[in-house]
Amino acid sequence: MIQARLGVNIDHVATIRQARGGTEPDPIAAAIIAELAGADGITVHLREDRRHIQDRDVRILREILQTPLNLEMAATAEMVAIACEIRPYCVTLVPEKRQELTTEGGLDVVGQAESLGGCIEQLHQAGIKVSLFVDPDPDQIECSAALKAEAIEIHTGTYCNATSEQKRQTELEEIAAAISLSRASGLQVNAGHGLNYQNVQAVVALGGIAEYNIGHSIISRAVLVGL
Ligand code: PXP
Repeated sequence: MIQARLGVNIDHVATIRQARGGTEPDPIAAAIIAELAGADGITVHLREDRRHIQDRDVRILREILQTPLNLEMAATAEMVAIACEIRPYCVTLVPEKRQELTTEGGLDVVGQAESLGGCIEQLHQAGIKVSLFVDPDPDQIECSAALKAEAIEIHTGTYCNATSEQKRQTELEEIAAAISLSRASGLQVNAGHGLNYQNVQAVVALGGIAEYNIGHSIISRAVLVGL
């Protein structure tokens, strides 16, 4: 069984900072604390509207982290240019809508294969690994492998939001099938969105996932425990 790594998403620390438009709490400090506590990596989402993480955060993290930096971003020319300049260890391409509260689902890799293929090529030329955030859907996974992404990140949001045990089991089965197909296609399998201290356990039990990217539940607990 693979020993899974944990990437801590620190976007919510930046959300609190932005609430006052000042300098605290600094997500850089949060990243260092997460690393000291054993995090295997740090994840940030630089959104087009800069609602939480700022360009400055990504630049400083790239300089100081001891663990890999995973930059989540939309597949736009602006973001690809920023990534190619800052060169994080990995870029995870995600769909982005301005009005959404958080990422709402996986990328339509099949529908945007041509433009995504161009972004992936540019990122590869800059020496950056690419992961695609997708629903546990075989077509999306096969297309991700065809576009030569190194990894996919399975969107676990639908599983996490399931309101019945039956729906939860169905979602888990889809995730299990997605893990098998991805691994057979040579893709590293990551997972994230909506995972917490309880619901992550059944996903871990499936095996085969290399990396979890978790933010909201960790930062929520940190706020209460810290208080
Ligand atoms: N992975 C991706 C691609 C995401 O967009 C997010 C949310 O920013 C996460 C993981 C983390 O999700 P959560 O904050 O619900 O743990």
